[in-house]
This record gives sequence, structure tokens and C-alpha cells, in this order.
Amino acid sequence: MTTDGRDVAIVADADELARRLAAFVVERARAAIARHGRFDLALAGGSKPKAAYAALAAPPLATAVEWSRVRFFFGDERCVGPDDDESNFKMARMRLFTPLRIAEGAVERMRGEAHPPSLAADAYALVLRGALERDARDTPVFDCVMLGMGPDGHTASLFPGTDPTSGDDALVRAPYVERLATHRITLTPRVINAARDVVIATAGGEKAAALADALGGYARPIDRPVLAVRPDPGRLTWLVDRDAAALLAAR
Ligand code: 6PG
Repeated sequence: MTTDGRDVAIVADADELARRLAAFVVERARAAIARHGRFDLALAGGSKPKAAYAALAAPPLATAVEWSRVRFFFGDERCVGPDDDESNFKMARMRLFTPLRIAEGAVERMRGEAHPPSLAADAYALVLRGALERDARDTPVFDCVMLGMGPDGHTASLFPGTDPTSGDDALVRAPYVERLATHRITLTPRVINAARDVVIATAGGEKAAALADALGGYARPIDRPVLAVRPDPGRLTWLVDRDAAALLAAR
């Protein structure tokens, strides 16, 4: 279904969500490689993408994409090293880069171990400026940004309590997240919304209230930062399971 310029697909469960997310990435990768010879992809962190990454690295999808033409980036990272179990990079390396034998040079890691974290944010902004095409606002353009959503409506590492749409024109930020008592590194809405495609995949009943707010427009970005994700002229696709969609009809 399409609502307010967004495609919303409701699938049965988290397993089907993983299959649909993997298929989405393959389809967008093939289109981007056909269009401009490569696919610049920002990966989501968290737990839900794990099964989708595993599906991409296994038959038949492992041979469905010319992976040597894909460049991997991250939407956000925890402030830990690359071998820490909390690291989004480590999760992707285990499930995607290693099984697909992705060359080290094709992966641009956010250096979560940097002190202060703002150094990593500034360095990553330079990486994006050097690696990606730019739009009319001189914003780096991803072919696809993958995102998840937390029960509080956070996405990437844009958490409630700070208006993600306010402030400077930064491409990458290193916010201190009160509720986690730690810094994070994250793409900003400016970069996310410049992408040709943004896909938000979320599952589980604990996400239902935030999803209803997000799709119903019942909140502000400071309360539900996922509301700041409004790619233009790019496309936004939601992939959600039935449990996460439970309150959509009620709103
Ligand atoms: C992270 C993610 C974060 C995640 C949501 C949903 O680094 O944790 O970027 O934004 O996408 O918290 O997480 P789940 O996929 O575990 O539901």
C-alpha cells in the first residue's frame, strides 16, 4: 500500500521481513549497477537486519548481485571497536562481508573507537564527500540507506529528545544518548533524505505505537526521530511485520 508517497508492505513475520528486505536490496543493487555501475549502500545496525544479511550472503542471492560493484557504508555505529560484540560493523562483517568475501576496500567503517567520537563523525563526513555523488545541495547521495526503528521511534542513532531536523548542516553526528549513557555516531537526516532509496524494516509488537505515530503523523521528529526520514526526490519504503503494524488500522 502507498500512503503519503511512502510504500508500506506488511508481511507475516520477522522471517518474511528478512526475505523481503534481502530481495529489496538485491533489486535496488541490480538497478543501481545497471544505472551507474555501482551500488552505494548504507547498512542498518541492530538485530533485525542480521537475517537479511545472512540471506544476501547465501544462495541464491549470493550470486544475484555483482558484489564487487557494491560499496558498503553504515547508517550508524556504536562507540566501540570493530571487534566489540556491540559493533554494527562486526555484525555485518560476520554475516555479510566475510561470507561474500567482500574486499576490505569496499567497506567504509565508522571508527567507533575514536576519542572523542566527534572525530569519527567528522572523518566519516569526509569519507562520504570523497566517495559519493553529490546532489544540488552538495549532499552525498547513497543509492540506498537501510534503517531500522526502535520502540521509541529512534532510527539510526537519532534518538528522542533531540530534534534530528534542527541544528547545523552536518552529514554525520556523534550525539550523546542520555538513555544509553553513551555517544553514538550517526548519519543525519540531511544525508538519509538525499538517498535515492530509503528502506525502514521493523518487526515486533513493541514497535507498534511508534509505527502508528510515524505513519499516522501523530508525533514530532523530536519525539519519534524516524519521522525525520522523508527522502525527496528519493523513495521511502517501509517493510513491517503484522505485529508492528497492529495499531495502524486503529489510528
Ligand atoms: C542500532 C541501529 C538502531 C536499530 C533500531 C532497531 O545501531 O542499534 O541503528 O537504529 O535499527 O534500534 O533495532 P532492531 O533491529 O534490533 O529492532
